Amino acid sequence: MEQKKSGGIVIWLTGVSGAGKSTIAHALVARIQRIGLQSLLLDGDVLRAGLNSDLGFSEADRTENLRRVAHVASLFCQAGFVTVTATISPAAEHRERARQITGDSSFVEVFVDTPLEVCEMRDPKGLYKRARRGDIQHFTGISAPYEPPLTPDVVVRTQGVGINQCVDEIVDYLVRTHRIEHK
Ligand code: ADX
Repeated sequence: MEQKKSGGIVIWLTGVSGAGKSTIAHALVARIQRIGLQSLLLDGDVLRAGLNSDLGFSEADRTENLRRVAHVASLFCQAGFVTVTATISPAAEHRERARQITGDSSFVEVFVDTPLEVCEMRDPKGLYKRARRGDIQHFTGISAPYEPPLTPDVVVRTQGVGINQCVDEIVDYLVRTHRIEHK
């Protein structure tokens, strides 16, 4: 099938564990592929099972984890892919560095803004419970910081909102800013 042309884009999803990043990212990649563009998901959990399996959750390890994710994303971006990343990326500095690695004009920061209480209630992997018990150290939002983005390009609120609407909001932004041509 002939691929439609697009300059590559990195869509960098940030938010705490359980915010819905991976779910939105999967649906977003599927939507973009349906439009006819090449798209790829780089999911923090998946990368940590392979490429980044030597890294933990200290500040230094998170910085290295996110440096690698940003470089891989940037390579796919240069190859023309709409590359969606789903990582907590808790510090503004992490996200700023990723923007620099990618290039400002190709980088879209999306804040998946789900209140911590909601994420803790959802607790899809049981990690919040373990973090509260003290079984997991440096857990983002509990015993390690999360700095909400102050000026994200897009904010997606997931509470009481379907996945499709979250995806619509991101795609609308891409169209509005002429990063992709149409829906
Ligand atoms: S990041 O901080 O370096 O961006 P990343 O997104 O790759 O994190 O990985 C986060 C995932 O690792 C979480 O969704 C969760 O499943 C798992 N995890 C395990 N330990 C921790 C921890 N201490 N803090 C946050 N997430 C953790």
